[in-house]
Amino acid sequence: MRLEGKVAIITGASSGIGKATALLFGREGAKVVVNYSHSTDEANEVVNSIVKSGGEAIAIKADVSKEHEVKAMIEETIKKYRKIDILRNNAGVELQKPITITSEEDWNKVLDINLKGMFLCSKHAIPYMTEGGVIINTASVAGLVGSANLSAYCASKGGVIALTKALALEFAPNKIRVNCICPGAIDTPMLRRFIDASPDPKATEKQFTSMHPLGRLGQPEDIARAALFLASDSSSFITGHTLVVDGGFTAQ
Ligand SMILES: NC(=O)c1ccc[n+]([C@@H]2O[C@H](COP(=O)([O-])OP(=O)(O)OC[C@H]3O[C@@H](n4cnc5c(N)ncnc54)[C@H](O)[C@@H]3O)[C@@H](O)[C@H]2O)c1
Repeated sequence: MRLEGKVAIITGASSGIGKATALLFGREGAKVVVNYSHSTDEANEVVNSIVKSGGEAIAIKADVSKEHEVKAMIEETIKKYRKIDILRNNAGVELQKPITITSEEDWNKVLDINLKGMFLCSKHAIPYMTEGGVIINTASVAGLVGSANLSAYCASKGGVIALTKALALEFAPNKIRVNCICPGAIDTPMLRRFIDASPDPKATEKQFTSMHPLGRLGQPEDIARAALFLASDSSSFITGHTLVVDGGFTAQ
């Protein structure tokens, strides 16, 4: 097992990429904190699956955009597991809207969850991390290339890439590594909501599929395996890196 004895906090872990990562990290021996903001049932389901397959996990509710909730989550983790080895900053929301009708509230919500949330979780988890600690952020290909009607989301994910590099340098002397993953279009509830809200969902799904030269949508497990690599000692000399997992999309 590649994460034996490690304590991993995974934000937004009740669905999609976060859920797949929680299940994989659990199978690899990590004690998993399944963070969620809304569905207690879904979070408990993830915890139960990990426990059923012989692992250890707890669910902790916290809105990553609220500092007092993040602080309480970190304190609860320390009370239960005494340490934090891996912080998997993954929680996020998307917003498809032309900029001219994006309200200040819309903009703040996306930036607060997608970017400020990663700042807050890092700020409160790092003091408990020792040498060998790892942070893995979920950015997006939308942080590398532009996308029409997705300005707030693109801005937030570009910010995540910059935050990753800055934190990597700030904590390299402490031997804490910080990296991020840029997924392409991954088949999760977020992508399904996006597809279903489009005028022609079938055509939109086809478009997402064909944007990847590998000719398929990404699966949450594709990203979970990349996160496992970055969380494990296999990547011990990698920090400040942006790992693109996009079926070749940004190679075009
Ligand atoms: N699906 C894709 O195509 C894709 C592509 C690139 C990047 N991403 C990123 O991957 C990450 C995971 O997304 P997903 O596709 O699995 O979607 P998802 O909607 O299935 O998962 C997102 C999770 O974040 C949680 N969340 C939202 N706001 C929160 C908050 N304030 N506090 C705590 N948790 C919160 C949600 O409840 C949900 O469990 C996001 O950061 C997303 O931007 C997704």
